[in-house]
Amino acid sequence: MNDKLKIAVVGAGIYGRNHLNGYTWNPRSELVAVCDLSEKIRQQVEAEYGVKAYADLDELLSTEDVDAVSVATPDPYHKDPVLTAIKHGKDVLVEKPLATTSADAHEIIDAAEKAGVRVMVDYHKRWDPASIAVKNKLAEEGTGAPLRGYMRMDDIIDVPTNWLNWAHASSPVHFLGTHCYDLIRWYMGCEVTEVYARGHKGLLESMGVDTYDTVTAMLQFENGCTWTVENSWIVPNGFAKADDSCTHIMCENALIRVDSQRRGVEFFDSQKGYTPNICFMQDNGGRLAGFGIDPMRDFVDCIQTGKPFLAGLTDGLHAELIAEAVTKSVETHEAVKLTY
Ligand SMILES: NC(=O)c1ccc[n+]([C@@H]2O[C@H](COP(=O)([O-])OP(=O)(O)OC[C@H]3O[C@@H](n4cnc5c(N)ncnc54)[C@H](O)[C@@H]3O)[C@@H](O)[C@H]2O)c1
Repeated sequence: MNDKLKIAVVGAGIYGRNHLNGYTWNPRSELVAVCDLSEKIRQQVEAEYGVKAYADLDELLSTEDVDAVSVATPDPYHKDPVLTAIKHGKDVLVEKPLATTSADAHEIIDAAEKAGVRVMVDYHKRWDPASIAVKNKLAEEGTGAPLRGYMRMDDIIDVPTNWLNWAHASSPVHFLGTHCYDLIRWYMGCEVTEVYARGHKGLLESMGVDTYDTVTAMLQFENGCTWTVENSWIVPNGFAKADDSCTHIMCENALIRVDSQRRGVEFFDSQKGYTPNICFMQDNGGRLAGFGIDPMRDFVDCIQTGKPFLAGLTDGLHAELIAEAVTKSVETHEAVKLTY
């Protein structure tokens, strides 16, 4: 097949692996090169994927024949690779959050508009079958207006203390909260007008990671629905999954509940029980399935067909604006109004 979309992946860490696998597996795309700052990771990727790995994206894009770039660098370091890709006229898939400051998000948006380049944001919860079911249920006339919502998305403490060496430069608000803000905006079909939030610092700080342990935010939406969103990075490591999440939505004529924790499969060994998120990623003998891989497949599809992205630059910017307002409210103990 010679119409494969030729992709370069930037950042081949924990989540970048899903990007590498997503494009390698897809018969409509071809992984042509990788960029990572770590020499160890570059060597591993070259050995496993048989493509050249570069330390510098500009050099990669000046050397290789690439159609699009997929960015999975740490939260605060998305801007530079995205701007480099845009400078070379390449369409981009960037991991969530688009940026950790609205100034970075605006810079990306301005550059993409000037270059006529398309940028998709990997808010992968939009591809989760449970989220799709909720979105469709809310669209049913008989459900009535949503009046109150609750969403929790927490991670085990291993994530900020062992998995990510850059957790101090992000927060539960940016790493987890932006997932929630994006998903709820998608559900509500309108914007947040005001937020009030409180947070706690101390435990992670005492372990050398200067960020919030837990943040609780109240979001007021234009449609009158009020949401409470809880995000924490300190769930004990003995928990049955790396993350814990759930959603409740009270509508005029319906109650919607999503238990993202128990997806129907449980494993037990002599140490502990484990409840895998079977919807996230399954390797069916080399055929990959799940909402961890669907965004990469959809990105290829959107670029090849011109279809609109499920989550684009405005979504990335607005999730970041909410994250900034939440963080400001935590710091000032005051409600923060949002303007777009
Ligand atoms: N870990 C998760 O469960 C998860 C889930 C969903 C999304 N994400 C998102 O994916 C992104 C990456 O997270 P991760 O967990 O893979 O982090 P990670 O630390 O495991 O990997 C990041 C990789 O990027 C490389 N890197 C850093 N700066 C770079 C640069 N300028 N150019 C090239 N390479 C660079 C690092 O060497 C590292 O290999 C984050 O934005 C994160 O929010 C992570």
